[in-house]
Formats: sequence, C-alpha cells, structure tokens
Amino acid sequence: MKLSSLIALAATAVFLTACGGGGDTGEDGVISHNGEDTSPPAIPTVDLSALPAPYNAADYDTGRRMFRRCASCHTVTPDGGNRVGPNLYGMFGQVVGTQDGFDYSTALEEADFIWTPEQLDAWLANPREFLPGNRMSFVGLRDEEDRVNVIAYLMHETGYSAD
Ligand code: HEC
Repeated sequence: MKLSSLIALAATAVFLTACGGGGDTGEDGVISHNGEDTSPPAIPTVDLSALPAPYNAADYDTGRRMFRRCASCHTVTPDGGNRVGPNLYGMFGQVVGTQDGFDYSTALEEADFIWTPEQLDAWLANPREFLPGNRMSFVGLRDEEDRVNVIAYLMHETGYSAD
C-alpha cells in the first residue's frame, strides 16, 4: 500500500512539474534553453486584471523573465538602488530622468514628459530613436507582446497606480 501511494505521489509530482514547465517553453525563442529554466515550477500567478488594457491580459511570469534583460542595469524594488541604469521603483507618473542620485545623459535630463505605459512602450520599442543621445545601451524589444508583458510586470512591481 505504502509503495503504491508513493508511486502515485511521484507520478503527481512529475505531472505537476511537466505542467508547470509547459508554459515556459515556446513563444519566446530566446529563453528556450532547456537547461536554464530551472526556477521552481510553482510560482504563484499574479493577477494583473486591475491594470488597464492591454496590460490586464499580459503574462506576469513571462514579463518577469523578460525583465532579466533589464535586470543587469535596473532594479525595481524601493531600495534597490541605481546600477548602470536608474532604479525604476515609482517610475510611472514620474518625470523622465529624475531618479535621485542617478547621473543621466543630457538627452534624458532635458526630456520633459511623464512616464506612462505608452511612453515606456515607445522607449522600449526603440530606445535609440525615442530619445536620441541617451546612454541606455539596449537594443530594444521589437516584439509588441514582449513589451506588453515586461511593462505589465513593471507596473505591478514598481507601484503603478492609475490616478
Ligand atoms: C546595459 C544597461 C541597460 C539595460 C540592459 C537596460 N537599461 Fe534602461 N537605462 C539604462 C541607462 C544607462 C539609462 C539612463 C539613460 C540615460 O541617462 O541616457 C536607462 C534608462 C531607463 C529608463 C528611464 C528611467 C528614468 O528615470 O527616466 C527606463 C524606464 C528604462 N531604462 C527601462 C529599461 C527596461 C524596461 C529595460 C529592459 C527591457 C532596460 N531599461 C534595459 C541602462 C540599461
């Protein structure tokens, strides 16, 4: 009896692992190294439904993985601090180029707009053209779905509020 319930348990575990991992593959060719995706399968799914469209339909976990491309230069937590790029906590609703203690390029210092999801979408689609002369050495995210996912992730992490 004991052995069979153990087997049943193991089978369930294998099944759950397979399911948990299933969503991670496909779609994004860049993160499809099989060996790399060893993160625990049971990441709680975050509810983004309160965000405005199209971000309410985004996939948090995909956005979180997408943010790895930004994480070498940016932190998102309140006390994450500046790295190569400025800390992004509280960025939505804030004037561009005003994060405390960060030495911005003239391009960002002189720019004058408030960060909204739409502005961020344009910035990430083509950082170089959006604000010529900026110092963010990042090629951009050409795929709109990638941008929607990473922006929704950022909205959730950095304290976005609609008002
Ligand atoms: C190689 C490092 C690097 C990477 C990778 C990178 N950034 Fe940046 N980012 C910077 C730097 C440096 C600046 C400041 C640019 C300047 O002053 O011209 C910046 C500025 C920004 C700003 C403006 C912040 C403000 O205070 O106005 C946002 C938003 C931003 N990055 C988001 C992202 C996102 C999202 C990603 C990933 C999709 C990303 N960045 C990838 C280095 C990087």
